[in-house]
Amino acid sequence: MKKIFLFAAILGAALQPLKADEGMWLPALISQRIGDMQAKGFQLTAEDIYSVNQASLKDAVVLFGSGCTGELVSDAGLLFTNHHCGYSFIQRHSSVEHDYLKDGFWAMNRSQELPNPGLTVRFLERMEDVTATVLKGYKPAKMDEEQRQALIKKNSDKLKADAVKEGNGLKASVEALYYGNQYFLFVFREYRDVRLVGAPPSSIGKFGGETDNWMWPRHTGDFSIFRIYAGQDNMPADYNEANVPYRPKKSLKISRAGVKEGDFTFVYGCPGSTQEYIHSEAVRYIQDVSDPEKIALRTTRLGLMKKHMDQSQAVRIQYSSKFASVANAWKKWQGEEKGLRKNKVVPVKQDYEKRFAEWAAGTRYEGVTDRLAQLYAARNPLYRAYEYYRETVLTIERLQMVRSNRFNTKDYYRPIDEESFVAMMTAFDQALEDIYKPPYFLDKRAQYGSMEAWKDAVFADDNEAKALSDALNNHFSTAIVPPVTELNQSINLVYRDYMQGQMEFENERNFYPDANLTLRVAYGKVAGYRPVDAVWYNPVSTLRGIIEKDNPDIFDYNIPQVLRDIYARGGFEDQPVCFLATNHTTGGNSGSPVLNADGNLVGINFDRVWEGTMSDLVYDPEICRNISLDVRYLLFVIKEVGHADYLFDEMVFVD
Ligand code: ARG
Ligand code: ASP
Repeated sequence: MKKIFLFAAILGAALQPLKADEGMWLPALISQRIGDMQAKGFQLTAEDIYSVNQASLKDAVVLFGSGCTGELVSDAGLLFTNHHCGYSFIQRHSSVEHDYLKDGFWAMNRSQELPNPGLTVRFLERMEDVTATVLKGYKPAKMDEEQRQALIKKNSDKLKADAVKEGNGLKASVEALYYGNQYFLFVFREYRDVRLVGAPPSSIGKFGGETDNWMWPRHTGDFSIFRIYAGQDNMPADYNEANVPYRPKKSLKISRAGVKEGDFTFVYGCPGSTQEYIHSEAVRYIQDVSDPEKIALRTTRLGLMKKHMDQSQAVRIQYSSKFASVANAWKKWQGEEKGLRKNKVVPVKQDYEKRFAEWAAGTRYEGVTDRLAQLYAARNPLYRAYEYYRETVLTIERLQMVRSNRFNTKDYYRPIDEESFVAMMTAFDQALEDIYKPPYFLDKRAQYGSMEAWKDAVFADDNEAKALSDALNNHFSTAIVPPVTELNQSINLVYRDYMQGQMEFENERNFYPDANLTLRVAYGKVAGYRPVDAVWYNPVSTLRGIIEKDNPDIFDYNIPQVLRDIYARGGFEDQPVCFLATNHTTGGNSGSPVLNADGNLVGINFDRVWEGTMSDLVYDPEICRNISLDVRYLLFVIKEVGHADYLFDEMVFVD
């Protein structure tokens, strides 16, 4: 008995404590972590990170657009984010005569800055635990889940309405944390006149392209520069020439001291989504079914696109953005699947669940893990059908265009779509049982006899395309989505208990809520890693590496001539470009400020390493690394490439 207990304790100790540097913490609760941060080198206080009474670092960080982060770097509203976050806006300003994507863009004074309709940035005014208010009037014995949800909505709506009374661009949201065990109110102020100030040419801002994406060593100058404008009262205003640069409560000082292995860093930004506390069955499904199948389908689609893009410059431009977005997740899933297997995440979780179940016997958590396993068994085949629809038939452009009556031929190349039709319809048909397909599909399949013949008809005849499109989309939204949604709701309900159970089971562990695009702090240190046996990756890359990769014949590695010339002048060999650290980040953290122990800007986060992309599900301190642009490379490009170093006048530099 004693032996078993001891064994369990050792195993428990090995698995349970939060692994070093894991976590995305709520700024308002950072006082719970500040001791650990300071022990690791942080020089400031919790109030410096988040305060509602005085200007703090949170006032220099924004949600940029709908899914990135940006940071204020001057008292005149100047903002840094990633090139890939500003990409669509840079693209919209580009034409054949002014190709800012290709050549870069540099405003040489404020009147040259370009407005971007639709682009907003959000500052967090305050965040607050509102669990008690949200659940006010809840009577567990008397209310079912539906009544509970209705009550939560009513209470939340009232909270939000009260929070934005002042107007002036205020927005509010109430977010469930820990699967609804806690509720937080977030109040933002949203600015909507945001202008483009500068962007490097894509051969710098997207250097390495898809080849280097999610990879180290990395040499991408992934930044762009914007400025926030406000009305005379410094409040949000629609675009107007008379608007003035926004005066932030706080802007970041820029450190030119650089970083080295072991230095403390933290990332302040808006991570989008993680699932760190899910059941082994959910992980097993991702690793064995979802990731491999989606990867295979996208390999096919990317192959088709690439074949045509390689044959024609025009097609390459048409499909470059589509290709990038399909390739981004495709590559991430490969790293994730490998990482999950290598880390034996499924068996480790299974073992954890076994110990949890033993502990939970006789408590209100008894049977929770079994219930989750059963629910996943019921959900997974349906969910697989859901994912197949989304990755196959719903990606056929012809079927989407005929549905929306929008025929955007500018970025459309029919031969790609025709081949894709045959490949995706065939994959859909072969992978799914007929019960998941609309009757129309089964009838027509018999009628045409081959996908080729069906394709010819769909591409020749709008009515034929429309009928197929309607059949597939309607079946998806009426027969596939509703049961998936219902099962997911049931699953989340059980997670509310399982999450609370895990927190009691491991009462020593400091849990952080899964990412949900709300502002978080992640901290760690600059560190290299060992991707495979016998290889060690240093955490800092330099301009030397760009020159090593330079190749005019390879699109992703063809650097601008000006960079070759600068390098040839000498003295820039050791110019730092990117660096690695152990900060726990995810999608949405792109553009986040990377700060040093004194809270000064040393980098801009933009990616993670391939071997560590499973960090959305499980974080391994040995191998999970975020990739940041070294702020000194940004300064170098502004000055040497853009000749826009007049911008330095409004920045504050420290060493
Ligand atoms: N992998 C980075 C992030 O998810 C950068 C993506 C943009 N760059 C690209 N080459 N597609 O999302
Ligand atoms: N590149 C991601 C982003 O766009 C960041 C990441 O997934 O690490 O937010």
